[in-house]
Amino acid sequence: MSAQGSIEELPFDRGLPVLGHALDLRRDPCAFVMRLARLHGDAVRFRALNRELVAIDDPAFARHVLQEKVDSFPRSFHYREARSVLGEGLLAQEGEHWHWARRMMQPAFRSDPVREVATATARCWTRVRDRWNAVAARGDSIDARLDLTRLTLDGITAALCGIEPGLEEADRFGQLVRDTLLEIRKRNNAVVRLPAWMPTGRQKVVRRTIDAFEAFLGPVVDARMRDPEGRDILSALVRARDGEGKGLTRSELLDQTKTLFAAGFETTATGLTWALCEVMDQPGLCDAIGEEARAAGIEGEVSGAALEKLALAKRVIEETLRLNPPVYTLGREVVADEVYEGRRIPKGSTLLVSIWGMHRSAVWGPDAERFDPDRWLPEREPPRRAYMPFAAGRHTCIGMYFALVEMQVALALICRDFRIRWAPGASRPPMRPQITAAPNGPVSMVLERR
Ligand code: HEM
Repeated sequence: MSAQGSIEELPFDRGLPVLGHALDLRRDPCAFVMRLARLHGDAVRFRALNRELVAIDDPAFARHVLQEKVDSFPRSFHYREARSVLGEGLLAQEGEHWHWARRMMQPAFRSDPVREVATATARCWTRVRDRWNAVAARGDSIDARLDLTRLTLDGITAALCGIEPGLEEADRFGQLVRDTLLEIRKRNNAVVRLPAWMPTGRQKVVRRTIDAFEAFLGPVVDARMRDPEGRDILSALVRARDGEGKGLTRSELLDQTKTLFAAGFETTATGLTWALCEVMDQPGLCDAIGEEARAAGIEGEVSGAALEKLALAKRVIEETLRLNPPVYTLGREVVADEVYEGRRIPKGSTLLVSIWGMHRSAVWGPDAERFDPDRWLPEREPPRRAYMPFAAGRHTCIGMYFALVEMQVALALICRDFRIRWAPGASRPPMRPQITAAPNGPVSMVLERR
C-alpha cells in the first residue's frame, strides 16, 4: 500500500486534471479512471453514470479484492450486460453455476490440449504469410492490426472448433464478434438501460447480431456433439462429465463457445498488435526473435520442447502485456461497507481495478514506463504480484495459457519470416480503450522477406 492516505483524501473535484479528462469520461469512463488513478496515486472515488465508482491500482489492495475477499466483491454490472448478449457463459455466471461450469471446462484448457493452438497458429500463419509475401514484393505498407486480427481469429477458430474458416470468412465472423462486444460496451456505458426484450430498433439490431453469431456456431456445436473425438477444445467440452456423469447441454455449449470467442479473440489480437509495435520500436529485436525461432525449428506440429526454446518471444509478450494490458480494468461490486488499511469503501459502490495503472506503478522501479523484456529473466525476480494481465483469483482468465502460446508462436513466426519496420512517416498510434485497450489508428508497417 502506498502512502497516499485514504480514498476520501482523493476527491473527484480536483479542478483542472478532471476537466482535462472530461473527454475521456464521455468516451469511456474506464479510460478516465485510469488516467485519474495515475494522477492521484492508488485510489480515487467519484460518481459517473449514476454510480459511485472507486478506482484502485495498488497490487495488494487488488489481490485483497480479487483473491482474499473474493465473495465480498462479486463481478460488476458490466458482466450482467454480457449475459444479455452472450448468454450463460463463464463471463456472466456467478456462484454455483459458474463454479460447476469452470470445473467442467478447466481440463480442456490445461497445457497439453492447449498446445494444439501452437500448431493451429503455425498452420494459419502460412495463409497470412502468402499475403504478406505479395505485399512485400510490391513494397506496399499494411495495417498490421487487420491481418493480426485475421490471424488470431483463424487460429482461435481452429483450436476451439476444429475448423479453419480462411481469411475472408474470418473477416466476416470477426466483424460479428466485434459487433457483439461493441453492443455489450454500449449497454454498459448507457445511462438508461432498456431490458433486452423491448422491441426497440437498437434491440432488433442486437438480436440480428446474436442470431448471426449463433447461426455460425450452432451447426459447429451440433457437429461436435455428434462426433466429439476431435482434438479441438469444443470436442473436449462435449466429452466433459462431472462426478455424476452430467455433461454440458447444447445451449450451455453454445453460450460457452460464444463467450470463449468474445473473451479470447479481440484481446489476443490487441496484445499481438502491441507486441509488433514494441518490436518495431526496438532496433535489433525483430532479428533476435527471428534467429531464436529459426533455431527452435517451428514447423508443422509444434512441440512443447520447441515452445520452450522461444524464450525471448515469451519475454517480449510478457512485457508487452505489462505495458499494454488489453483488459485494462476489472469491475467489482462492493456488497457491504469495507475498510481496507484505513480506506473506507461504501457498500453499493463499484470498484475498478486499474490493471493499466498497476503495471506502470512504482513497484516496477524507476524505469517502469520503459519496455524491457529482460526484466522477465528469472534472475531479475520481477514483482509478479503486481502483474495481472489475466486478472487474479478464481476468475483468472481460463484462456491464459492459450493466449500466451498463440501470441508467442505468432510473434516468432512473423519475425522468422519477415523483417518488420514502421512505414515511412508512420509511428505508434496512441492507446484508446474501446472493447480492449487497442491502438487508436492504423499500425502501418512495411515488410521485408527474409
Ligand atoms: C491476451 C489475451 C487475453 C487477455 C489479456 C485476457 C484477459 C482476461 C481477464 C483480465 C479476465 C478476467 C476478467 C474478470 O475477472 O473480470 C479474463 C477472463 C476470461 N477469459 Fe481471458 N484474456 C485473454 C485471452 C483469452 C482467451 C484466448 C480465451 C479463450 C479462448 C479467454 C477466455 C476467458 C474467459 C472464458 C474468462 C472468464 C473466466 C471466468 O470467470 O471463469 N481469454 N480474461
